[in-house]
Amino acid sequence: MTKYIVQGGHPLFGEVRISGAKNAAVAIIPAALLVDGVCRIENIPQISDVTALLKILEQLGANVRFLNRSDVEIDCRHIATTQVSQELAHKIRASYYLIGALLGRFGEAEVSMPGGCNFGGVRPIDQHVKGFAAMGAEVREGDFICAKASGDRMKGANVYLDVVSVGATMNIMMAAALADGTTVIENAAKEPHIVDLANFLNSMGANIKGAGTDTIRIFGVDKLHGGTYAIIPDQIEAGTYMAAVAACGGQVLVRGIIPKHMDCITAKLQEMGVQVEEQDDTLLVRRSGKLRRTNVKTLPYPGFPTDMQPQITVALCLAEGTSMVTEGVWDNRYRYVGELTRMGAQIRVEGRSAVIEGVDHLTAASVQAYDLRAGAAMVIAALAAEGTSEVSNVHYIERGYEDIIGKLRNLGAQIDSVECDETIETRQIG
Ligand code: EPU
Repeated sequence: MTKYIVQGGHPLFGEVRISGAKNAAVAIIPAALLVDGVCRIENIPQISDVTALLKILEQLGANVRFLNRSDVEIDCRHIATTQVSQELAHKIRASYYLIGALLGRFGEAEVSMPGGCNFGGVRPIDQHVKGFAAMGAEVREGDFICAKASGDRMKGANVYLDVVSVGATMNIMMAAALADGTTVIENAAKEPHIVDLANFLNSMGANIKGAGTDTIRIFGVDKLHGGTYAIIPDQIEAGTYMAAVAACGGQVLVRGIIPKHMDCITAKLQEMGVQVEEQDDTLLVRRSGKLRRTNVKTLPYPGFPTDMQPQITVALCLAEGTSMVTEGVWDNRYRYVGELTRMGAQIRVEGRSAVIEGVDHLTAASVQAYDLRAGAAMVIAALAAEGTSEVSNVHYIERGYEDIIGKLRNLGAQIDSVECDETIETRQIG
């Protein structure tokens, strides 16, 4: 096991380059299963979720070849099985995308689902299943999800999602790309990674219209061909570095982003007194004075992202006055709050809201990452706190942040990764 040792209390200065988006990559890699040809995927983030997914594809019979550290060639012309090994699927939450992709290409899939609780609550996939069933598949749920199309192919259908779900929108899009007929997804999610998946599939010959709006139409085609596609930059990774500057102070140029994707985060940080200047594909983020209080409610895109909730909470802990954060996507995403209060934060959780009384400073402590984004928040808190903190269970963080140690050190942070013995808890998230 690895933990991070952080000597905090210093502002951040310098430049950080943002990697490819994790939540796009974990959908686009399974989507390569739909392609009867070689696809070259560029700007893949080097994170453990990606490594696990590529390994799964190899086990299914794909040929996977890295061309350099961020570009990979995937050839799914000779897939040997539609059964995904339990051992690997358990490692990542996004293994559910393998169901839509395998169903779409081969009309059947058997994928074991990640177990355990997440964010302290359940993460249902009923909307994914509802979509597959509408398209003619029979789906049996247990330790494994076994899904089988009624004929050789999925059938186009109308699916109205009861909740706006990123996963269900992408999974149904994959299952529909090669279906017989047209599929319409209503009340679809609109996150940048939804558009990225549609663009990837379209560049391989799919016919998908409306991604990024509430209604997505997928006109089934007979076959997808190979091609080249570059994944968008990671909105949440960029937002995490912006929140780190807010909490620690300093001046950082965040490079390689799509500014439009950052608007929801930029606007909130500006309300808090952080200066953000946009230029082409960069944001210059600066904070010198005291942070101001604000309220944040997480919502599906284009609202403030739930995956930035723990990180902005850390910054609000250091703002003047009382702030309120309300979680509008997940039932429970506040397990990390106890760790922050041990660092001197004053936070009271009431249902889906956290009421934060700003404090002057945080104090160093040994804290653990409860999940990916909570882990990033712990790193930010440790960077802002005076003294030496330890963050354990960092394998969660490494599932979604490429080279976080190297990137932070480049900004002057005093952070080291050391080996240790203890494992506190092992769960799936992301
Ligand atoms: N929901 C249902 N039924 C479903 C699916 C979702 O009730 O069938 C509910 C969920 O319980 C939740 C809401 O709908 O309350 C939204 O869930 P969604 O399906 O959008 O989440 P997801 O696809 O499982 C992805 C990201 C999460 C991110 C959410 C919301 C991946 C691999 N994960 O999860 O990312 O929080 O969308 O934006 O793309 C992270 O990166 O740290 C992370 C957790």
